[in-house]
Amino acid sequence: MTKTQFGLEEILAKELTDLGATNVETHNRAVSFEGNKEIMYKANYCLRTGLKVLIPIAKFKAKNDIDLYEEVRRIDWNEYMDVDGTLAVDGILKSEYFNHSQYIGLKTKDAIVDQFRDKYGRRPNVDVDNPDLRINIHINKDDCTLSIDSSGESLHRRGFRGEMTLAPINEVTAAGMILLTGWDGKGVYFDPMCGSGTLVIEAAMIAKNIPPNMHRKKFGFESWKNFDAALWKKVKDEAIAKIKKSEATIIGGDSVFKVIDIARENIKRANLQDEIKLNNIRFEEQKPPAEGGISILNPPYGERLPIEEIGAFYKTIGDKLKKDFKGYNVWIISSNIPALKKIGLQASKKLQLMNGALECKYHCYSIYDGTRDPKKLKIQEQENEENK
Ligand SMILES: C[S@@+](CC[C@H](N)C(=O)[O-])C[C@H]1O[C@@H](n2cnc3c(N)ncnc32)[C@H](O)[C@@H]1O
Repeated sequence: MTKTQFGLEEILAKELTDLGATNVETHNRAVSFEGNKEIMYKANYCLRTGLKVLIPIAKFKAKNDIDLYEEVRRIDWNEYMDVDGTLAVDGILKSEYFNHSQYIGLKTKDAIVDQFRDKYGRRPNVDVDNPDLRINIHINKDDCTLSIDSSGESLHRRGFRGEMTLAPINEVTAAGMILLTGWDGKGVYFDPMCGSGTLVIEAAMIAKNIPPNMHRKKFGFESWKNFDAALWKKVKDEAIAKIKKSEATIIGGDSVFKVIDIARENIKRANLQDEIKLNNIRFEEQKPPAEGGISILNPPYGERLPIEEIGAFYKTIGDKLKKDFKGYNVWIISSNIPALKKIGLQASKKLQLMNGALECKYHCYSIYDGTRDPKKLKIQEQENEENK
């Protein structure tokens, strides 16, 4: 089972299928699949839109903490870790039978350490940050799934992020946003409000077919008892051999000098300085390459600003797009729906995504090159009238 963000399930399912996983099925914020250890290693190294790869080891029913404790104790934990190892348990709860996810985590941990204590007279220690074995207990009503977490730290932590800007987007969301546009990694990719550079970095990795987690220092499965170092090396070598020369022109811009500096540092850390051009220019003054392409904007959402103010900014964005972005498919993500309406263009696609805890719309505006469809223009004019 691979966890992801809401709205990226189909993209993740395709990624898993491309890696060779079988029985791939989408669920809410997750995709289940079957595969061997090699697929599990590949999934951790190569997935752009996966947050965690969990391996289910037991499914059972429990309606109270005693049942839960007994069921967890029935598993032979020696198979998964040694008494001298460390563990951590994450609990996820959607059930009226239990009232605290931390509590179910605690009960699960107690059952495991008690089993070791009975057998050896001593117990494994808890290490929340860097355990040898991270365990996940998921309870939906009375359906419990116990999994071991092969990723460890969430896979959105690619391993090269340094300083943050105010509102960096999660790397998994960023990669998903790019893949949702259908961009094939060639031609122009333009992010004129690039912030710390998350989207341009993900775009460059897609263009070069770089495994996104190449720079991570550690994955959960590396401290498992069944870790196969030779297989892991093979998976990494094969993925690295598939890195290619970029055929893309990737450009990021931002109006704030300090922000561009942070983006430059992050890009350098990801070793992508030759793939991405940066400019410190206001969006209003940007001149996108004439050949057209894909542009993604993650503008400030201005949730706390009066709609007149943030709406005026979004209207400026729309006016600029109409004027200078002909030949572009421009995708805009925002949680501010009234402001988004002020763009004043008819969206050709409307998707929903989460940016952290914020429910967002993700709209595509196809900016036609000169000849516009008069029927669409009419609808658009009507929409503009309604939104005034
Ligand atoms: C929500 S943040 C983008 C975050 C980015 N995706 C990341 O992951 O770091 C919006 C960015 O738009 C920039 N911005 C705001 N107004 C702008 C303008 N008029 N022109 C260009 N950039 C602007 C801000 O400086 C900020 O970095």
